[in-house]
Amino acid sequence: MTALQPFAARRGRIALRPLGDADAADLLAIFGDAQVMSYWSGAPWTSTDQALRLLAADRAAAATGSALRLGITLADSGAVLGTVSLFNRSESNRRAEIGYALARRAWGQGLMHEALGLWLDWAFGPLGLHRLEADVDPANAASRRCLERLGFRLEGVLRERWIVSGQVADTALYGLLAREWPARPAD
Ligand SMILES: CC(C)(COP(=O)(O)OP(=O)(O)OC[C@H]1O[C@@H](n2cnc3c(N)ncnc32)[C@H](O)[C@@H]1OP(=O)(O)O)[C@@H](O)C(=O)NCCC(=O)NCCS
Repeated sequence: MTALQPFAARRGRIALRPLGDADAADLLAIFGDAQVMSYWSGAPWTSTDQALRLLAADRAAAATGSALRLGITLADSGAVLGTVSLFNRSESNRRAEIGYALARRAWGQGLMHEALGLWLDWAFGPLGLHRLEADVDPANAASRRCLERLGFRLEGVLRERWIVSGQVADTALYGLLAREWPARPAD
């Protein structure tokens, strides 16, 4: 598979940029928050070592082309407020899944809507994907609303697909096709 190159992009209030080890403390502040992790596929982090391990795994995944994660910042700040990711990429089917998380202090301002707008422009534009998927806990109302505002459709519910810290959860599987994503003007 072709490697995925980290890149920088900005529009409106938001910028996306590559992550580095210097961002480990910001990442721990996001992924160490139990509320952010309520519907995540793992337990809240407890140390920056987990951030450094994630960053190392991300570098390897980008090199093989299976996944890419970027940091979300405000346009005028370097601090990482959240992340967007693309993973489980299938090059032959031109499909991948997306993931995303934002620090709690940044919720409810439409910032993830803007960040995912940039992310989808790249995924359906330069990357050339045909289809994107998102696997969401049906109870995660903010995430579902965010996807629906972007045009994702609920395509099905997969029962008891996750067991995280002993909690069993369903998947609400959302999908969006390239032809359903309106071209956005470049910044
Ligand atoms: C999901 C998440 C990324 C949303 O980020 P955000 O920037 O707050 O999202 P936005 O402000 O762009 O949009 C959220 C939408 O959900 C709505 N919403 C928020 N909380 C809600 C709730 N509890 N019930 C119903 N709707 C809710 C908001 O009103 C908004 O809708 P609107 O656009 O019609 O006004 C953020 O809450 C988060 O990081 N959660 C933790 C990590 C996570 O769950 N990631 C997704 C895993 S699939």
